[in-house]
Amino acid sequence: MSTRGAFIVVEGLDRAGKTTQVSALQTRLENEGILCKLLKFPDRTTAIGQMIDSYLRSQSELDDRAIHLLFSANRWELASTIEKLLAAGTTVICDRYAFSGVAFSAAKGLTFEWCRSPDVSLPAPDLTLFLDITPEAARSRGGYGEERYEKEEMQRKVREVFRRISSELDEASWVTIDAGRDLDTVADEIWSVSRPFTKGLSIPIQRLWM
Ligand code: TMP
Repeated sequence: MSTRGAFIVVEGLDRAGKTTQVSALQTRLENEGILCKLLKFPDRTTAIGQMIDSYLRSQSELDDRAIHLLFSANRWELASTIEKLLAAGTTVICDRYAFSGVAFSAAKGLTFEWCRSPDVSLPAPDLTLFLDITPEAARSRGGYGEERYEKEEMQRKVREVFRRISSELDEASWVTIDAGRDLDTVADEIWSVSRPFTKGLSIPIQRLWM
């Protein structure tokens, strides 16, 4: 098999600096001349993404399972695009993915197994960087925003589910980064962990939770 691009997912709690770090990683890749594409979930630009956006901004109400399935459908909408990019040798960086799907819905009380099922067989990340921050550190960064899940109690529960996900995954593909440190230190660690993956991979694209 010829070399393909790597699929790198960045997950994290709100206020962990995910958006800043994802764009710093993209800049480093581009500076090295590595072809890369940045994606973000939820992708609020599609029809499904607009329903999700309205729900997150509390402009509409949806059953917990219905919104969970919309988040998953939003990933499936882009699954073939991700596969094509990887096959073409592009490194795909993704700001949130299926792990957020499980973490936020399980934190609301849905079972872990039920939450995983609609995402089974999506393209699996080769590397997931989990930006971890304590609720106390998040508070010291100015607290949370206005959206539906940006509340301290919810974030605490989400963090617990992320820990469970991490304990059940292959350690090599899930790396927890202490995001409570200064931005440059965190960016350097993300780069040193990601760099080996950016040289291209010769293994087939893996499937999530199979
Ligand atoms: P964002 O702030 O990164 O745009 O994410 C929007 C919110 O949606 C965030 O609180 C996490 C949540 N979320 C889910 O509940 N399920 C999912 O599958 C994803 C991708 C995000």
